[in-house]
Amino acid sequence: MAMDTFSLFISTLFIFFHITAVASIGVNYGTMGNNLPPPSQVAQFLKTQTTINRVKIFDMNPDIIRAFANTNISLSVTIPNGLIPQLADLATARSWVGANIRPFYPQTKIEYILVGSEVLHWGDAAMVNNLVPAMRSLHHAVNKAGFTAIKVTTQHSLGILNSSRPPSSASFQFGWQQYFLTPMLEYHRQSKSPFMVNPYPYFAWNPSDNNFALFRPNPGLFDRATGKNYTNAYDLLLDAVFVSMKKLGFGDVQIAVGETGWPSAGDPGQWQCTVANARWHNLNVARKAESGVGTPLMPGRKFDTFLFSLFNENLKPGAMDERSFGLFRPDFSAVYDIGIMRQAQAGGGATPTPVTPTSGKQWCVPKKGATDASLQSNINWACTSGGVDCSAVKAGGPCFNPNTTRSHAAYIMNAYYQAKGHQDFNCDFSGTGVVTTSDPSYGACKYTA
Ligand SMILES: *[C@@H]1O[C@H](CO)[C@@H](O)[C@H](O)[C@H]1NC(C)=O
Ligand SMILES: *[C@@H]1O[C@H](CO)[C@@H](O)[C@H](O)[C@H]1NC(C)=O
Ligand SMILES: *[C@@H]1O[C@H](CO)[C@@H](O)[C@H](O)[C@H]1NC(C)=O
Ligand SMILES: *[C@@H]1O[C@H](CO)[C@@H](O)[C@H](O)[C@H]1NC(C)=O
Repeated sequence: MAMDTFSLFISTLFIFFHITAVASIGVNYGTMGNNLPPPSQVAQFLKTQTTINRVKIFDMNPDIIRAFANTNISLSVTIPNGLIPQLADLATARSWVGANIRPFYPQTKIEYILVGSEVLHWGDAAMVNNLVPAMRSLHHAVNKAGFTAIKVTTQHSLGILNSSRPPSSASFQFGWQQYFLTPMLEYHRQSKSPFMVNPYPYFAWNPSDNNFALFRPNPGLFDRATGKNYTNAYDLLLDAVFVSMKKLGFGDVQIAVGETGWPSAGDPGQWQCTVANARWHNLNVARKAESGVGTPLMPGRKFDTFLFSLFNENLKPGAMDERSFGLFRPDFSAVYDIGIMRQAQAGGGATPTPVTPTSGKQWCVPKKGATDASLQSNINWACTSGGVDCSAVKAGGPCFNPNTTRSHAAYIMNAYYQAKGHQDFNCDFSGTGVVTTSDPSYGACKYTA
């Protein structure tokens, strides 16, 4: 134990003194702000001022795709979840590639096409059922177009795991393994594309685990079954994914990190959200991505990694932490440095271009990292003491399918939030709920707003 603490201390020092060694890292470029600079300025800034060499966006915004032309920065793009059912059809996939990729490629170095985001977690049955067929069709379509360097994947929240502690006991959610994840991993193996996950120690954080979540000295977690010691939550989450894949026979499939990050500010009480914590977390993630040191169960493996996120986004709903994940402020000043600036910042910045905020409705849904156990207790409470009419999620009700705790909890938490006057605190649920502006309704299952 003294030994562990000591070696952790040494590696901590090593990281500290080698801060400038981080050469390249990916970032997510989210656009939920009304004060963000135009895409052309963003692309030029990243190219000239930073060593960021990969960018991922959450849509197919042509202005952004065009802005990254001839920057030599790889761009990954995301197809909206709602298009998934129609893209399972090969002819539709081919015309989609013709309209959305061909005009921009290869001037813009498109790296990954993500077929939706966290579809198993949030998607309706039609999206979930068509996900792998759509991935196959799009893969086929980009190859037919001759764009063989573009990989087709999708990204997953860790809601796909049944459990992660210890990693050796991890497995995917039972219902998803057979129907969705086995065929998907088979696709990834055949197409040599990575299985992309969003491991956020932040969303699994609890006060007693603070140092473990933040790569700071701690007693570690010893996994008896494998004899491996875990000194941070990030390794633990990645190995839990790896073990789950291996249990299905896919330990050889590459893993990529679609999102991970830590907010630099929060509401009063969110004391874990500080600049020092955000910097330290992201610096360690970036170092891991760059060094290829891997994890206890995947030594020497590199993971293409996209930090969340590029900017603080002032229109993200929910608590302050949601708007504070950025490496940069909208004026391009760094919130903190993780060794990705080409040289010390000269200061100043671009003129912000305000966009009109969308006025609108809001819904309450479970947070990414919320466990099934906590969501089940939300359901139990809301349907009894909370006074929510829960018949819609009972067998035969319009929101019964998908028959998962998360889906049922989403419907019920939202019903409670709306009934109580939709204040942010009505969506707290002991920190397991989050307010969103995108309507979770699907098919006959209508969420009120
Ligand atoms: C892991 O840590 C435990 C307790 O600190 C120690 O007994 C064990 O030898 C360590 N194992 C490895 C493989 O480092
Ligand atoms: C473009 O990026 C690739 C990979 O990041 C790098 O190997 C290459 O040297 C870059 N080319 C230019 C012209 O900067
Ligand atoms: C899911 O996790 C629970 C608790 O960790 C465990 O008892 C159960 O066997 C797991 N289910 C599967 C299918 O692995
Ligand atoms: C719904 O899910 C629960 C929990 O997994 C299970 O016990 C139940 O049998 C399922 N109901 C149907 C109709 O599939």
